[in-house]
Amino acid sequence: MSDLAELQRRAAERAAARAGGTDRLRGHLVCDGLVRIFKTEGVEVVALQGLDLVVDRGELLAVVGASGSGKSTMLNILSGLDVPTAGIARVAGFDLLTMNAKRRLRYRRKIVGFVWQQTARNLLPYLTAKENVELPMTLSGGKSRDRAMNLLEMVGVAHCADRRPDQMSGGEQQRTAVAVAVANDPEVLFADEPTGELDEATASDVFGALRTINAELGVTIVVVTHDHAVADQVRRTVAIRDGRTASEVRRSARTGADGAEEIVSQEYAVLDRAGRMQLPAGFVDSLALRDRVKLTLESDHVQVRPGDE
Ligand SMILES: Nc1ncnc2c1ncn2[C@@H]1O[C@H](COP(=O)(O)OP(=O)(O)OP(=O)(O)O)[C@@H](O)[C@H]1O
Ligand SMILES: [Mg+2]
Repeated sequence: MSDLAELQRRAAERAAARAGGTDRLRGHLVCDGLVRIFKTEGVEVVALQGLDLVVDRGELLAVVGASGSGKSTMLNILSGLDVPTAGIARVAGFDLLTMNAKRRLRYRRKIVGFVWQQTARNLLPYLTAKENVELPMTLSGGKSRDRAMNLLEMVGVAHCADRRPDQMSGGEQQRTAVAVAVANDPEVLFADEPTGELDEATASDVFGALRTINAELGVTIVVVTHDHAVADQVRRTVAIRDGRTASEVRRSARTGADGAEEIVSQEYAVLDRAGRMQLPAGFVDSLALRDRVKLTLESDHVQVRPGDE
């Protein structure tokens, strides 16, 4: 007779096999070969075509990409609003493809928070900032006035506690929205262009709020943005192209020769499990690469050359 520990071990093994190895399970959020096909009037749109992404617990990740590249499609799936066509999507131990309606509801109420681009979509217009933050707590049974005020302070809008959204600026509304999104103490926060309707200075305040929440509460955050200035403020930025993760930039601090701290950033192409990668469009254009290329393995790198003689 197999005991519980044995069953758990086998389940973990199966999950690892499904995810393609135990190292893939490490992530708090894992997408592997994620596909989403929309069918409208007989036409198929492949919005995600095998997207891979692993985000560690407590990370703050920025996602950038051209309009139509699949960013919102990905966030809608990850936040449990939409179901993918195929692939693996797992967040905080929830399997987003197979979970039933009850578990999906629990996932959306307790595990994830969301901030939308449209300020009006995040807050109820007839409630004050504080009441907006208290509402999700009330709905989930627990209510703490202190926590609501703490959160508003954390995102820098304590002075708006008793104001309704129409008495706040766009930036103040979005910072309040961040507080609302984490009111239930979720494990993960998704934000889709939260600064899209704001000017640069205000956008930077909203981003500051996200960074504070990430650091203070340890919430894993994935934020979609068009704003490259914003992407400069995080350690890791992933670029999506045509429904796939194409490249990522990692930044780290190091001490320069003069003793001052400097930020070094390095761009990487994303290599999937099958060994596929996407060449940057600029590289392809400048060498007029087409159809096929020649690869040569060198001792410590791979060369890519035009395929035509
Ligand atoms: N419900 C839908 N039905 C049909 N096609 C859709 C649907 N949602 C998205 N698409 C298509 O899927 C592709 C990806 O859309 P998505 O909204 O994810 O892009 P995005 O990266 O968020 O773009 P933007 O920066 O403009 O918000 C687009 O070609 C879009 O037209
Ligand atoms: Mg979008």
